[in-house]
Amino acid sequence: MKKLMLTVLAGICVLAGTFSACKDQTADKQACEVKPLNPNGDSELALLMREMTQTTEAMSAALKNGTAFPEKPQGFEKMINAVRTDTTIEQGPYEAYAKGWLGALDRLYTAPEANRKEMFNTLVGNCESCHAAYCHGPLDRIAKMHVK
Ligand code: HEC
Repeated sequence: MKKLMLTVLAGICVLAGTFSACKDQTADKQACEVKPLNPNGDSELALLMREMTQTTEAMSAALKNGTAFPEKPQGFEKMINAVRTDTTIEQGPYEAYAKGWLGALDRLYTAPEANRKEMFNTLVGNCESCHAAYCHGPLDRIAKMHVK
């Protein structure tokens, strides 16, 4: 229910991005959409997120198509301390989201195959929670990763 409300809210804000209630979200969105031509280069976290996106989309495709599920990805714990574009993000709460996601990744890979879809959708939910808090830009793309 909470997730649905967030989705609806994000939708309204995309449609009516100039309304003052959506101002913060618009700022978030800019902060997390780094263009490849950014003269300062993309942040360490942005690059890692692109890798996480590809990996998670590959898992989603495997579940949707019934093909071999990818091996457990390594190195994503770098997300905790990777340099972020938005330096105002507070480490404590951010780290809690990051560890939540990493815990969901561990549970996905220790779960019996019968529970894999459910565990995978939980993992995608953890992407969404952090993005709902800090960075709304990729939420539409992430929503498509859920497996019915
Ligand atoms: C702990 C919080 C957190 C989690 C969990 C998280 N993200 Fe992110 N994500 C961010 C932040 C913050 C940024 C902005 C990165 C920057 O610009 O420094 C970001 C950026 C992105 C971007 C934009 C990258 C670019 O090209 O600039 C995508 C796409 C993305 N995340 C997808 C995902 C996906 C898919 C997942 C789950 C597999 C996920 N994120 C999990 C916080 C998170």
